[in-house]
Amino acid sequence: MVTTASHGGDLVNRILPEEDREFYRKKAKSLASVSLDSWAISDIQCIGIGAFSPITGFLNERDYHSVVKRMRLEDGTVWSLPITLAIDVEEAKHIRLGDRIALKSKHGELQALMDVESMYEADKQTEAKEVYKTTEDAHPGVANLYRRPSIYLGGTVSVLESPSGGEFKRYYYTPVQTREIFARNGWKTIVGFQTRNPVHRAHEYIQKAAMEVVDGLFLNPLVGETKPDDIPAQVRMESYEVMLQNYYPKNRTFLGVFPAAMRYAGPREAVFHAMVRKNYGCTHFIVGRDHAGVGDYYGTYEAQEIFRQFSPEELGINLLFFEHSFYCRKCAGMASYKTCPHSAQEHIILSGTKVRKMLSEGIMPPPEFSRPEVVRVLINGLRK
Ligand code: ADX
Repeated sequence: MVTTASHGGDLVNRILPEEDREFYRKKAKSLASVSLDSWAISDIQCIGIGAFSPITGFLNERDYHSVVKRMRLEDGTVWSLPITLAIDVEEAKHIRLGDRIALKSKHGELQALMDVESMYEADKQTEAKEVYKTTEDAHPGVANLYRRPSIYLGGTVSVLESPSGGEFKRYYYTPVQTREIFARNGWKTIVGFQTRNPVHRAHEYIQKAAMEVVDGLFLNPLVGETKPDDIPAQVRMESYEVMLQNYYPKNRTFLGVFPAAMRYAGPREAVFHAMVRKNYGCTHFIVGRDHAGVGDYYGTYEAQEIFRQFSPEELGINLLFFEHSFYCRKCAGMASYKTCPHSAQEHIILSGTKVRKMLSEGIMPPPEFSRPEVVRVLINGLRK
């Protein structure tokens, strides 16, 4: 039983049936090809399995401008991040509208075919300003945008392998599979949780607060490309494994990876994250403090406020907003600015930078900040 409607229509499936793949592999040998960067590699996977429904390929020119300017596809469907295929001038010389082309990894492995509908010049300044709210290349998402070539190709993709999740195989599920699992568990309401960090007590607190009002929690850590100083995905997944063994009810929690790359686009990415979790079958989605943010580019609650621009019907998922949470010594427990009357001196708040420094020096952050089991995973992980 499908728990919730997917975004903008039916769940997309752009993975070619196994029996057709050999035929297309042979055909691809005579096609012009383009090489994919790490964003595009994860995007293709997400498109293929329907995580990015209703998107069936890389955005054409009209959808691109519409998404950048008004956070909607041309047909009005809410969509907040431009999913684009950037190619260089040399590659573009061999491609015409209407062509079928081969999309390959940097190492030349064939990933997908694409029918080219649209070829256009990226408007990087506008894209940076609108999507990231800054044109500074100190922002990791903007830096990557600037690094990419400037010609974008739009068109539907057909993926040649069923993604297996690579090193995260055990935790890799398609939206069709997560929907089946939620239904089998008898969950009618499911809250999705996005994360790119190791789990700390504040994460646990907001997840469990949400669990009080829904049937199940879908922990969905992002494992696509993140910036170099973020904790590696492998270590983050291990931190979730020890949390699940020690602190979460097995019959109400489900862990699966989200293969997308991180853009650090704050508010815009929060909307995108919510729509994608709707595709995975979530009825609810958590947005806490500075969701998908980086540095000081976004206000603490901007990623919550942005949702006011849309009607509940067009979002189609319930948002659960959480205030900045922390451990309070006086309350002797986890709390937030919404529930705690005590002064900042009573609160245990550590920045990511501070925690990374402590870990690299082998110092355990306090148990009020992070569960000791997680700290051990992090210290070992960072030593490798
Ligand atoms: S994110 O880039 O994936 O958003 P992170 O993994 O740190 O980063 O956060 C995951 C989710 O937890 C986001 O919704 C974020 O807003 C929320 N969050 C993180 N820390 C806190 C906190 N101390 N209080 C409230 N919400 C938080």
